[in-house]
Amino acid sequence: MFIKNTWYVAGFEKEFGESFISRRILDLPLVLYRTSDGRYVAMDDCCPHRLLPLSKGKRVGDEMQCGYHGMCFSADGECTHVPGQTNIPSAARVATYPIEARHGFVWIWMGEADLADSALIPDVHWHNSPEWKSSQGYHHIEANYTLLNDNLLDLSHETYVHSRTIGNDEEESIAAYAAKTTVEHDCLVRAHREMPNIEAPPFFALVIGRPCRINRWQSAIHLVPSINLTVVGVHPVEEERADARIGHVLHLLTPESPGSTHYFWAFVRNYRLDDEELTEGIRKASAATFDEDKQILECQQKQMERLNSKVPQVAIKLDEAPIRARRLLEQRLEHEARNPRHVMAPPPLVPQHSFAILEEV
Ligand SMILES: [Fe+2]
Repeated sequence: MFIKNTWYVAGFEKEFGESFISRRILDLPLVLYRTSDGRYVAMDDCCPHRLLPLSKGKRVGDEMQCGYHGMCFSADGECTHVPGQTNIPSAARVATYPIEARHGFVWIWMGEADLADSALIPDVHWHNSPEWKSSQGYHHIEANYTLLNDNLLDLSHETYVHSRTIGNDEEESIAAYAAKTTVEHDCLVRAHREMPNIEAPPFFALVIGRPCRINRWQSAIHLVPSINLTVVGVHPVEEERADARIGHVLHLLTPESPGSTHYFWAFVRNYRLDDEELTEGIRKASAATFDEDKQILECQQKQMERLNSKVPQVAIKLDEAPIRARRLLEQRLEHEARNPRHVMAPPPLVPQHSFAILEEV
């Protein structure tokens, strides 16, 4: 059901403070924290003694103490203390998982631990680069992560779902501008669309600073199983493409359970970097946009459960990129089922400069 040999986002770096985080990932309850010397820790949220979640206990220094009988476990998952005795039973240990920080996120590897190569962490460096500015947030979505992948690979839905934020209305319907879909390395799908001389939807009027006609483009980039990047470019029609406002919108999805997803997102821009009002405006507008998606996705999930059905039931032209991504995911799941040590190295999401991909297509 889930690809295991891959890096998922466990949280934003800024979430990791003096306490701990209790979070279910790939349907496994985990305790996450950062030690005083800066190491990140992910361990099963379960005491091996009487199975109480360790998150019901407390963090003591760099260890977790069970809230039932006081047994303590180090960042390596080893039991260090059993009240009332000096010997430590050899089975008294908790499973831990490779976890590390990169690009402002903390990434976790739930597969074979010795295969966890940090070089395989997807490159999303824009998120904490001084040349870009990030507006970020988190949504908890009561829907399977593949429904979010579908959503992010078919941006024609903006006309209907996001008419108050990023969508053009039906007179300039996004679906009317064909998307060109390509597949790379059996694990990456791109769907690119150009929308010349259209009205700036409210969100883009905000980033440009006024209502106007714009040239707009968008590249939906998907890395199996659940990393998504939308490269969005806009400029007023009277300006040059080279001066476009570029946004790299990260949608980093981590399955919580078969029916729910952690949605870590960030809108990262290359313009007006010091404009804090704009940073907050984009954060609010992005959150409102993803609230709109959440409504749709959670309805879909309920319908699938009610009907015991998969999607899509009917495929239309707009489904090309989502369907290609679903096929790649199925292939990858099959590979991993046959070979639990199967690993794929991700290609770069954006090959060189942002504009390189835009000129290619
Ligand atoms: Fe959407």
